[in-house]
Amino acid sequence: MSKNKSDFIIGLDVGTSKVATLVAQKNSRDDYTKHNDSFDIIGVGLSANNSMRHGAVVDLEDTISSISASLEEAERMAGIPIERAIVAIGGDHIDGSNSTGVIAISGENGEVAPTDVERVIEATQAISQPTNREMLHIIPRLYTVDGQGGIKDPIGLTGIRLEVEAHVVVGSVPVIKNLTKCVYQAGVDVEDLVYGGLASTYSMLSKKQKEIGVALIDIGAGTTDLVVVEEGDILLSAAIPLGSANITNDVAIGLKTSIAVAEAVKIKHGSCLPDQVSDHDRIDLSQFDPKEDQEASKRYLAEIIEARMSEILLLIKEELKSINRDGMLPAGAVLVGGGAKLSGVVGLSKETLRLPSALGVPSIELTGFVDKVSDPSYAAAIGLIIYGLDHFPQNKGLFNPSPSAVSRAPGKIKEWFKQFIP
Ligand SMILES: Nc1ncnc2c1ncn2[C@@H]1O[C@H](COP(=O)(O)OP(=O)(O)OP(=O)(O)O)[C@@H](O)[C@H]1O
Ligand SMILES: [Mg+2]
Repeated sequence: MSKNKSDFIIGLDVGTSKVATLVAQKNSRDDYTKHNDSFDIIGVGLSANNSMRHGAVVDLEDTISSISASLEEAERMAGIPIERAIVAIGGDHIDGSNSTGVIAISGENGEVAPTDVERVIEATQAISQPTNREMLHIIPRLYTVDGQGGIKDPIGLTGIRLEVEAHVVVGSVPVIKNLTKCVYQAGVDVEDLVYGGLASTYSMLSKKQKEIGVALIDIGAGTTDLVVVEEGDILLSAAIPLGSANITNDVAIGLKTSIAVAEAVKIKHGSCLPDQVSDHDRIDLSQFDPKEDQEASKRYLAEIIEARMSEILLLIKEELKSINRDGMLPAGAVLVGGGAKLSGVVGLSKETLRLPSALGVPSIELTGFVDKVSDPSYAAAIGLIIYGLDHFPQNKGLFNPSPSAVSRAPGKIKEWFKQFIP
């Protein structure tokens, strides 16, 4: 396969605990006969990140170093320089809401033209945003032409008035600026910014799941993202300001040990289901740090973990209640993010959310360094690659944009990108 620069799609997920970079190429054998895309992962970079809180940069220099380390590893593996990337943004500053837009149809003979669709989507931005909030995505859901609703694709229909219902995702201006600044200073152009929870829906949900109703739950270190999709449309997106790092902190307090030991103990011995852990099992903490001389109860560890994970899941349940989908999504909950690797989380999710629950697996075919990315914490990074194929014509090959596809937020963000270009 030739290495044409524009063939590559680069996903950069700057998370609260790690920076993941993926370099991918769409497999050339994909053609009209194949229904699903497949990607060749040719470069993977992973570096630790300790300089963000809930998705927001708190130390510029350290974040730039983590991004650079991740990019360099991916560049070495792929054998290409990385000049641009599609970047994931997350954190509790992200907010999703539903909005509507209305315009008068201007197409010839009153037929809805593509420009009308663009205009009506832009009209959803007319709703006033609090200062310091910026639009990341406008995701059109259903259109109405002269009162006739439920239309997925209005182009060519005749009428006077065109309305759209859209899901709008906004984020905090300073958080977005700081993240893009770090990426630029690491030497890479921001091709687009994508809400990480939304990106994960691209990689981890099948078309069928998205049709019948599903909740994507990305349990990160600092934030848990929730995106609900039904009939192919986004009903809800929400960021819960708690994640797996909160569990580690609770373990450190509960076992009176350091964060490093708590993290290692959580990963090796942690469970969300204390009822399934014997009361007699003990953990010798000196195996994690020779300075530690105490033992801990495995059951007590599970009780600490269950308390916090239940809190996170109950907050998700509240969000589902707010859209009348509590226990009501046939395709259930799909769990991704590093926090989904905790033993027993699927069981606790079934019990708490009263929904079928499973760990997420990529819904697309991957080749290349698949083993490296076969991990739920790569959900957003893989999603960025698929998003990139959908949204950037140079990567598109045979695929056509659909009017219900996620819209890139026009306007100011692009302008900011430019001001950081060295
Ligand atoms: N095997 C494991 N068992 C339990 N927890 C794990 C395991 N591996 C990683 N984690 C937890 O997953 C979290 C990291 O997940 P992830 O990489 O998805 O976060 P992130 O993307 O950096 O954060 P965020 O999305 O919140 O910005 C850490 O808190 C870590 O403790
Ligand atoms: Mg994440």
